[in-house]
Amino acid sequence: MKILAVVGARPNFMKIAPLLHEMRSRPSLTSLLVHTGQHYDEKMSKLFFEQLHIPRPDVDLEVGSGSHAVQTAEVMRRFEPVLLEHRPDVVLVVGDVNSTLACALTAVKLGIEVAHVEAGLRSFDRTMPEEINRLLTDAISRWLFVTEPSGVTNLKREGIPDERIYLVGNVMIDTLLRCRDRAEESGILEQLGLRSGGYGVLTLHRPANVDDPAQFAPLFAALARIARRLPLVFPVHPRTRKSLAAIGAETTPGVILTEPLGYLDFMKLTAHARLVLTDSGGIQEETTVLGVPCLTLRANTERPITCDEGTNQLVGLDPAAIETAALATLERPRGASRVPALWDGGAAKRIVDVLAG
Ligand code: UD1
Repeated sequence: MKILAVVGARPNFMKIAPLLHEMRSRPSLTSLLVHTGQHYDEKMSKLFFEQLHIPRPDVDLEVGSGSHAVQTAEVMRRFEPVLLEHRPDVVLVVGDVNSTLACALTAVKLGIEVAHVEAGLRSFDRTMPEEINRLLTDAISRWLFVTEPSGVTNLKREGIPDERIYLVGNVMIDTLLRCRDRAEESGILEQLGLRSGGYGVLTLHRPANVDDPAQFAPLFAALARIARRLPLVFPVHPRTRKSLAAIGAETTPGVILTEPLGYLDFMKLTAHARLVLTDSGGIQEETTVLGVPCLTLRANTERPITCDEGTNQLVGLDPAAIETAALATLERPRGASRVPALWDGGAAKRIVDVLAG
């Protein structure tokens, strides 16, 4: 059986790593890796291949950045001949980025079955590009591998037959558990002059939060007020770098800006943080496993289990509410939380067991 796996953007890398390692340990499977090149900077891509020991891609489509239509179409145009040449039995896609949808759609139109890892998550907010990517990818996939029970409920509601849905756990957590010891060795705290528990971590990159200065400036002002109480380390996504410049916030007391960090440094930083403030999807899950309080700066989450069982709290986008929630979190001891079922390091094995059937 030949499985062609796809990655494109930063959050894909930690998801594909354990799947590739698992597939390559099985003699009955042949696996190929295609990188679409949606993310291409050294710090957004190559560093993750090195740190997570992801094999060099067999094919690099080098699509780069563009509008949604251009990026999606360009991936499809360049991916189709790869499929025609290699003729895999299955195309394996992860997550919810433009590359995920583009490759799933290209495959299914050639009659190649698609496996989607991290299926079924729904924010119910169709203004998010990721929500559209998730809905459409799930609608055309043969295998839907789900991280949390809400995903199963969502897929059934959308009429996906039960026999396509597999609750298998979380491959991103496979990577987290596998890398924890190595992450502990990172010297990032010393490099930034921080002590464990004495700082917070901030990440922001959603277009809805950072692209419009009228939205971003008051949001950032609230974060700057929090930073007067607790220094905030802010690794800046390329998209956000431009927005910070636009609102003149490149130097803010208490806010420590860094370039995008590698996986091991970021995990060390997160594991030792007093608090994380983020609009990312994956970080909500990582903080839940690490037991670190997470305030999600969004109105909704497609990962409700991180609020129900984990350390996540949805605080929305009102600057005053964010400030109040952050200061309240600093006042109280860490609450009880638990790691969701099947987030145990064995998700990739369960997925490959199903595919190798
Ligand atoms: C993409 C995903 C998002 C994910 C995020 C993680 C989609 C629709 N969005 O958003 O779900 O949470 O990745 O990072 O797929 N850029 C660089 N270097 C790079 C990559 C991008 O400078 O290596 C800059 C470019 O100016 C580009 C912008 O960042 O235009 C946005 O990149 P893009 O891939 O379009 O979307 P992200 O915001 O990264």
